[in-house]
Order: sequence, then C-alpha cells, then structure tokens
Amino acid sequence: MADIIVAIDGPAGSGKSSVSKAAARRLGFDYLDTGAAYRALAWFVLDRDIAPEDTETVLSSLGAFDYSISIDPSEPVVMVGETDVTDAIREPRVSAAVSAVARVPEVRSFVTSIFRSTMDAAPHDGIVVEGRDITTVVAPDAEARILLTADEEVRMARRSAELTSESAADVGEQLRSRDRADSRVVDFLTAADGVVTVDSTHLDFDQTVDAVLEVIARETTRTSHG
Ligand code: CDP
Ligand code: CDP
Repeated sequence: MADIIVAIDGPAGSGKSSVSKAAARRLGFDYLDTGAAYRALAWFVLDRDIAPEDTETVLSSLGAFDYSISIDPSEPVVMVGETDVTDAIREPRVSAAVSAVARVPEVRSFVTSIFRSTMDAAPHDGIVVEGRDITTVVAPDAEARILLTADEEVRMARRSAELTSESAADVGEQLRSRDRADSRVVDFLTAADGVVTVDSTHLDFDQTVDAVLEVIARETTRTSHG
C-alpha cells in the first residue's frame, strides 16, 4: 500500500485532474481519477439502454460492471470489460447522465470499495486521489487533504476552452447543472476540518501545481511528525 495518500476534491473545472496528474508525475506517485468510475458506470448503463434515473435497474446491473483503470499519471486508461472507454466516458451524453447514478448511496459505496482496493494495491510510495468526496469519505485519513477551488466563471472558461464542438454557453450550463446536482449529494465546495484550500482563480496551471506540491510537502511533513 502507498505510504502517502494525497486526497484532492473540488468542483468541475477547478483543475483537479490535470493538476493531480502533474503533481503525481513530479512526485513519482500513482494517480487515481475517481470521477472516471462514475463516468464508466454511466457509460455502461447507457450502453445497456438503462435509464440512469432507474435506480433499481442500475443497482441490479452493478454485478456485471467489470471496471478497471490504470493508475499511471501519464497514461490513464479506463476499461469496462474488454472495451476501452477512456474517451467515450468524456462524451457530453455521459456527463449528462453521471450525476443520476452518482447520487445513489449503494453506487457510492460500491465504487468507494473499488477505490480503497486500488489504493491498497498501489505500487509506488504515494498516490494522488481526486474527486468530490475523497477528503471526507474515501480517504479522510489521507496524509494531505486539499480542496481545489476556483471562481465559477474561471472554471467555466477553462472547460469551454478545451472543447470546440459545443458552445461556451452550453458547456457552462451543463457544468453548472452537474455541480448543482452533485453538491446535493456531497459537499465539495467547503473545506472539511483539516482540509487545506488552494484557490486557483488567479493562478495559471504551473502555479497551481506548485501551490499543490507545497501543501503536500507541508502536510506530509506535519502528519509524519504526528
Ligand atoms: O472532471 P469533472 O469535474 O468533469 O468530473 P469528474 O471528476 O470526471 O466526475 C464526474 C462525475 O462523477 C461528477 O459530476 C460526480 O457526479 C461524480 N463523482 C462523484 O460523485 N464523486 C467523486 N469522488 C468523483 C466524481
Ligand atoms: O478535473 P477538473 O474538472 O477539476 O479540471 P481539469 O480538467 O483538470 O482542468 C480544466 C482545464 O483547466 C484544463 O485544461 C487545465 O489545464 C486548465 N487549468 C488552467 O488553465 N489553469 C489552472 N490553474 C488549472 C487548470
């Protein structure tokens, strides 16, 4: 098991995935994207023509959900059975369906146990785990716990800059409604006790990575001294 767990939460577009990957690479740590599991389940449900809101059928399909993810920060690959869904899980139809499956408590405990097994089996000294409830539910005892935030306008602008096929207004509205739905289930907008906030509103990408690395260095020194 990794000696050092770094837990990072935050809303869409705060920079969680890109910053966590970069920080993991710099530290020689593994990297776990927990949102990918919820997205893969939403993809799986849609692939079986199950309505994401049909909780009973979603739950009865969990036994057949054969999920795996690589934890190499340079090459995250997401598989469902024999299908590589790395790109497919980022499609707008999956983003639109994911909150409906993620709000179900039995789904959350099912994927949380997958995350804990992955963390237990991680081969390197440390692992950076990012999502919405890592600092509070998945790894509340993590050596470093960070809430990565940014003002909503900045987050929307970052996400729409990544896409060419959708209008910025559509992307903004989709993200806002996903954040609204998600925040009814998990509070990822306020830092829990002992969680350090990094606000990336006025930081560029490299500055955000440096700020996160500084917090990791400080927190891991502090926690290792009891
Ligand atoms: O990267 P982005 O902010 O677009 O989302 P993501 O991290 O890929 O997460 C996709 C969805 O999974 C979120 O909108 C939440 O519904 C769900 N999620 C969650 O409920 N808990 C987590 N720890 C991670 C993701
Ligand atoms: O995972 P999450 O939705 O929180 O965000 P992301 O996908 O890592 O970041 C969204 C976009 O913002 C990426 O293209 C990052 O490179 C960019 N970003 C930025 O421009 N400035 C920052 N300080 C942080 C991220």
